[in-house]
Amino acid sequence: MALREVLQFPDPRLKRVSEPVAEITDEVRQLAADMLEIMYDEPGIGLAAPQVGEAIRLVVVDTDWTDEGAERNPLVLVNPEIIESDGKILWNEGCLSVPDFQAEVERAERIRLKALDLDGREQIYDAEELRAVCFQHEIDHLEGILFIDRISRLKRSLYVQKRKKALRREQEESSSASGANF
Ligand code: NI
Repeated sequence: MALREVLQFPDPRLKRVSEPVAEITDEVRQLAADMLEIMYDEPGIGLAAPQVGEAIRLVVVDTDWTDEGAERNPLVLVNPEIIESDGKILWNEGCLSVPDFQAEVERAERIRLKALDLDGREQIYDAEELRAVCFQHEIDHLEGILFIDRISRLKRSLYVQKRKKALRREQEESSSASGANF
């Protein structure tokens, strides 16, 4: 079966605020497994359910998997919540939903996070640097926030223009291609 598509900016579904997971059903477990497969396939180090069109508070991450061939250490977070944060750090971020762009974003340097695992048990995670940044980036997705919403207005609008141009080009190319297939 083909993997689900990762939604890309400016898809309006990326702006929705996701609902808490009320019960960890087989569908939720299956979605988490699918999301991990997509994340490793892309590849990325984190993916949130709204990025695959499901507006629920479910996130997968693997911040150990920074290069292919490294050992996988997948983590599934259900209803994640930051309960403490401390310090500031600038990190160069990218996102599977924001093609062809990276920018520095200011985040908390250390966070304590509370989440359920897939067995419904509450877990506490203390994270710093890359892992803390990744958790904050993914939780933003659950609030309908992308990292480009956290950069300067100028940088954001330059990206939005570039993205619109690229989308127009794609559209022109696909319409001329279908024109040749009569
Ligand atoms: Ni992202």
